[in-house]
Amino acid sequence: MRDLTWVEISKSSLENNIHQLRKIIGKKTILCPCVKANAYGHGLIETSKIFLNAGADWLSVNSVYEAKTLRDSGIKSPLYILGYVPLDSIKLSVELDCRLVVYNYETLNAVSSASTSTGKTGKIHLKVETGTNRQGILYKDLKAFAKIAKTFKNIEIEGLSTHFSNIEDSTDHSYAELQLERFIEAAKTLKETGIDIPILHCANSAATILFKKTRFNMVRPGISCYGMWPSLETYNTYIQEIKNGFKLSPALTWKTKIAQIKNIPIGEAVGYGCTYITKRETTLAVIPVGYYDGYDRSIKNGLVLINDHIAPLRGRICMNIIMADITDIPGVKTENEVVLMGSSKTTALTAEDFANWAGTINYEVTTRINERIPRIIIK
Ligand SMILES: Cc1ncc(COP(=O)(O)O)c(C=O)c1O
Repeated sequence: MRDLTWVEISKSSLENNIHQLRKIIGKKTILCPCVKANAYGHGLIETSKIFLNAGADWLSVNSVYEAKTLRDSGIKSPLYILGYVPLDSIKLSVELDCRLVVYNYETLNAVSSASTSTGKTGKIHLKVETGTNRQGILYKDLKAFAKIAKTFKNIEIEGLSTHFSNIEDSTDHSYAELQLERFIEAAKTLKETGIDIPILHCANSAATILFKKTRFNMVRPGISCYGMWPSLETYNTYIQEIKNGFKLSPALTWKTKIAQIKNIPIGEAVGYGCTYITKRETTLAVIPVGYYDGYDRSIKNGLVLINDHIAPLRGRICMNIIMADITDIPGVKTENEVVLMGSSKTTALTAEDFANWAGTINYEVTTRINERIPRIIIK
């Protein structure tokens, strides 16, 4: 039985994106796609397997829960947990052979205890604060922190990381440059103290695509692996300053079927709150998807594709239903396919279109597509 709605994921598009990234970073740099948030809405397990088969080296997840899901699915590649691991889950993450980001002493002590009890070496990546001011050890505290970490015999400081706060939101990259300088300084300071950390990493998609010098030994791209640009600013910078043939293919198409077609007269209200009044005799398609599925209620002037034609939505987005005006589309029948996001034969509605309608970003749009909805891998 198929759900009312489903998401098709193009394997060849995902593979293309990994190949494109590999081409620009070279063979030696570790490619660690970010598969948190259900692989940005694309389906955690299948997408992860496709990435690894296409040449990704590691995977980064947000939580131990995601890491466990991947291990249970048979994935053996290195896993890096980017997000917070509660102290009572650290033993599990060490057992699962995960790399942990570390920025507080409580975690450090818990990794050591877990390493002792499991007999495994706890692999940690220190995160240094360079200006994003969320996770991270303040620069002034880094040396002392690393020295203490170094005293634990069962802990290996494998990586040093940071994260950019203003690299995709602007075409002015001066703040990113400042963060990069601070990161380089941090690595240098540790090296001078005798702590030479083998893996340095800070590059998300925008950094990986735009700035070779941010790639070091490992990159952690997320959005680009799924075929989306981080922002228009990143795309514009790429076009103006780089333009090296790098090409992304969006992998996700979100579909459903028409549940009902009805003709209503001029002057009728459509949907909750009577926010739309028909301006002509109107044929409406009732479509069984709503905000529960991740079709954002704040969307204004949304569109869907029916029989390769664009149909505007009418009235508010409901919990499980939206209504589209199909008056101008010939031959539409109940159960005709509806493309909510992605391409039909000659036209497309992108995650960026959704983001514009809802006043958000493409990241939020695809990660919000309800996990319950089946992800079907197509060629
Ligand atoms: C720490 C970290 N690294 C890498 C990424 C990937 O970023 P992007 O999707 O912009 O490539 C994220 C995404 O939020 C992140 O939080």
